[in-house]
Order: sequence, then structure tokens, then C-alpha cells
Amino acid sequence: MSNIKTLVQQLVEKHGKTRNSLMPVLQGIVKEERYLSEEAMLTVAEELDLSAADVYGSASFYTFLDTTPRGKNIVRICKTISCHMQGKDELIHAVENTLNIKVGETTHDKKFTLLTANCLGWCHKGPVMLVNDDVYPAITVQKAVEIIETLAKHTK
Ligand code: FES
Repeated sequence: MSNIKTLVQQLVEKHGKTRNSLMPVLQGIVKEERYLSEEAMLTVAEELDLSAADVYGSASFYTFLDTTPRGKNIVRICKTISCHMQGKDELIHAVENTLNIKVGETTHDKKFTLLTANCLGWCHKGPVMLVNDDVYPAITVQKAVEIIETLAKHTK
């Protein structure tokens, strides 16, 4: 049995074999594997008795569920209106230059993936950067670059 099948079965066992378990199961896979492969999504469909389209639909609706391989650190910058008005473009450019990639790309050393995100709920303190699970509200360009450079040094 493939590892992914075992993982999916464990998650289904933990969360229950119902449609409501779809999100926690998908999140559990992303936590372990860092992204959702096609095989993983098909296995989930099979194990939860859902159509593959249903699983793909949910996975792509929630942009936090990555469906392509990602770097070890995921940097997300909020692109929604408040953050847009508080300098998100400048922030994105600075991070793109620091990592030498564009939004949506992963660095060659696989240490970082840069993405944008919809409102992260910190609109009063924009612009907002999310690095893995850490939120950095009211981030300056200089601070963002420092955070990424430090993380690059500490990521193997
Ligand atoms: Fe960026 Fe809400 S608009 S956190």
C-alpha cells in the first residue's frame, strides 16, 4: 500500500468517513506532504466516497491547500484592498527581488515559495505577510527582507 493511501486512511479514521471530514483530511495531507498531489486527492475521493471533482473543487477553492509541490517555507502576502492600499505592491516586489522569484514560484533550492493570499483578517494593520503559520502585520519592506534572509540561513 502506498504511503499516501495509509496517510489518507489514518486521517479518515481520525476525522470520520463523512463529507464534513473533507477539509480536515485535506489539511492533514498538506501538513504531512506539504502539498496535495493528484494521487492524494483521488485517494481521498475514494476513501470518503466523493467524486474526484468534488475533492478537486474544494482543494482549489481553498488556496491554502496547495496542489503543486512547494518550498519548505511558504511566504504569503495579502493582496486584498486594505493591504493593497497600505503598500503590498512594494512589499511583493521587495520579496520577489530578495528571493529572485515571482509570485507563484518556488526558489531553486526549494527553500521558499512566494504566494499572495486573500484578506488575512489584519486589514487595520497592513500590509500583512504570512510566513508558514506566523503572521507579520504592518510589516515594512526592510523587516520583511530581514525575516526572509534569517529564515534562509536557518532552513536546511
Ligand atoms: Fe490584507 Fe485584510 S486586506 S489583511
